[in-house]
Amino acid sequence: MAMANTFELGGDLTVDRLGYGTMRLAAAPEPGFEAGMGHIWRAPADRESAKAVLRKAVELGVNLIDTADSYALGENEELVAEALHPYADQVVIATKVGVLRPSPVEWVPLGHPAYLRQQTELSLRRLKVDRIDLLQLHRLDPAYPLEDQIGALKQLVEEGKARHIGLSEVSVEQLRAAQQITPIASVQNMYNLAERGHEDVVDYAAAQGIAFIPFFPVAGGAVTGPGSPVAEVATEIGATPAQTALAWLLHRSPTILPIPGTTSLEHLAENVAARSVRLSDAQFARLSELATATA
Ligand SMILES: NC(=O)c1ccc[n+]([C@@H]2O[C@H](COP(=O)([O-])OP(=O)(O)OC[C@H]3O[C@@H](n4cnc5c(N)ncnc54)[C@H](OP(=O)(O)O)[C@@H]3O)[C@@H](O)[C@H]2O)c1
Repeated sequence: MAMANTFELGGDLTVDRLGYGTMRLAAAPEPGFEAGMGHIWRAPADRESAKAVLRKAVELGVNLIDTADSYALGENEELVAEALHPYADQVVIATKVGVLRPSPVEWVPLGHPAYLRQQTELSLRRLKVDRIDLLQLHRLDPAYPLEDQIGALKQLVEEGKARHIGLSEVSVEQLRAAQQITPIASVQNMYNLAERGHEDVVDYAAAQGIAFIPFFPVAGGAVTGPGSPVAEVATEIGATPAQTALAWLLHRSPTILPIPGTTSLEHLAENVAARSVRLSDAQFARLSELATATA
């Protein structure tokens, strides 16, 4: 069966299955903090280059753009608006609320319903929209009942401030429980060739028609480096290792929507071209085994 290149997010927003994650545009190391942590603390110094990457992504047909209120303390959302507002009709903006950033190395869930609503108001202003296409709860906070956290997002949908609700880093059980409260359009969990802890969530999302948005999709090169099994298969099919890792995700489930992040126009073009990289079922199976063996 031919693989679809698009997906109906929430049943009514057509998105290209290959999206773009903006987090790495804020990944410069923060002076005074341990290097290599990916602080995601400030807007990029070279703002024009970052905006060029965002605009190029849309030009190449990417229309699912993922950000969060916590990336660079909101400056990442401002950058998205500066680059892309007024948004083309087909562009779908996904953001997240529910995580505090008291310092460059702390990510602290906070699910107080009033905080979730306040942060959404701020995201609306920074993104310059009246309604957020996909509002994701960045993390569930065990300190608050699920009903209260999902209830706050549901209220925002009822008020017309969010179109669809998504979750992040949740189990099937948590997803099911949230669905009892309101429809859930997406789940964003860490998942790639080497990180396969959420296989059950991938399958559940597929069965429910829920988007599964795998973060860390190219795994920062961990499974795609020179000499890796992925690199071997890539050579066979005439693709790059990153493209092969993305093609594997696209093949894995029809509701998977990878959002690779990059600061480089070259990597962006390479990642977007993964849309047309096809694996046979045998190559997919072989790649799955190879990567599991080395994970
Ligand atoms: N929900 C959550 O909790 C959560 C957590 C993390 C991330 N996210 C979202 O998921 C998105 C993607 O995750 P991620 O940024 O962690 O992981 P990723 O997209 O797998 O990896 C990004 C890293 O890979 C490099 N890269 C990208 N394309 C490449 C290519 N073709 N060849 C070689 N290297 C390449 C980038 O460096 P260059 O800049 O040099 O290309 C960057 O360092 C984020 O932008 C964010 O929107 C969500």
